[in-house]
Amino acid sequence: MLYLIGLGLSYKSDITVRGLEAIKHCSRVYLEHYTSILMAASQEELEEYYGKPVLLADRELMESGSADILKDADKEDVAFLVVGDPFGATTHTDLVLRAKRAGIPVEIVHNASVMNAVGSCGLQLYNFGQTVSMVFFTDSWRPDSWYDKIWENRKIGLHTLVLLDIKVKEQSIENMARGRLIYEPPRYMSIAQCCEQLLEIESDRGTKAYTPQTPAVAISRLGSATQTFKVGTIEELAEYDSGEPLHSLIILGRQCHELELEYLLEFTDNKEKFKQDVISDQEYFKPAAWVPPTEDDSD
Ligand SMILES: C[S@@+](CC[C@H](N)C(=O)[O-])C[C@H]1O[C@@H](n2cnc3c(N)ncnc32)[C@H](O)[C@@H]1O
Repeated sequence: MLYLIGLGLSYKSDITVRGLEAIKHCSRVYLEHYTSILMAASQEELEEYYGKPVLLADRELMESGSADILKDADKEDVAFLVVGDPFGATTHTDLVLRAKRAGIPVEIVHNASVMNAVGSCGLQLYNFGQTVSMVFFTDSWRPDSWYDKIWENRKIGLHTLVLLDIKVKEQSIENMARGRLIYEPPRYMSIAQCCEQLLEIESDRGTKAYTPQTPAVAISRLGSATQTFKVGTIEELAEYDSGEPLHSLIILGRQCHELELEYLLEFTDNKEKFKQDVISDQEYFKPAAWVPPTEDDSD
């Protein structure tokens, strides 16, 4: 059996009882180690907690060697651990399909994901549109296909969850070109960098999917002891020191419900200003007021 087990958001003990019991009878345990990190537990701490070795599965292993992970999984139990939920903002469908093709039964053990835990900032999950990912820009690569998705979400009033790039085990272009297996230190995008990139692309495109004054919510270290929420305009959050990773950002949609706004006001010292920012931003997308037809119109 191949078990895909969600670890939850932060602590080693966030794993579910069913997940922990499955690990106990697995002969190999892999930890997916390139789309997210378990903020409050190291590999060693997990090994001690589970009482067995934990093998790190980086992008290379997943792309080139998922056969290693599936080896003998038709005869013994193998666990593949994913921070958050195995299907929350990461697609491990490829591994599941490969397992099924090889006749290996698969069991999924779900857990909390950033995709649902963001609701703890007070915004309602059913008011969210498409989620987008913001990658680190380089001198020659500044992808912005996310811009159109934010635009679509905002047109119909919905909030946008922006997930921020992390680079856990990357080679520099030079090391890659020379075939040297030397890796750069891990990098995690901050809220400020994400907001700067948002502002750069808005200024290039100029079609006002959002403006520097659009309200947003910075979410840091969700589910950990130092979880923090901060609200402000995109321009203000471009100056915000968000501290240790992990971070996500929500760009507010036009339909910000009264209760949602009341909850968000807890995350600013300047409540009146934020309220005004939300009202002004909503005005921009408001449809024209309905005017009842006159007798002349009906002729
Ligand atoms: C590709 S997603 C993986 C999601 C994960 N499988 C899950 O279900 O939560 C990773 C990104 O989600 C966001 N994220 C994940 N956990 C987070 C947390 N605890 N607090 C804030 N952002 C988080 C970060 O932007 C991070 O780079």
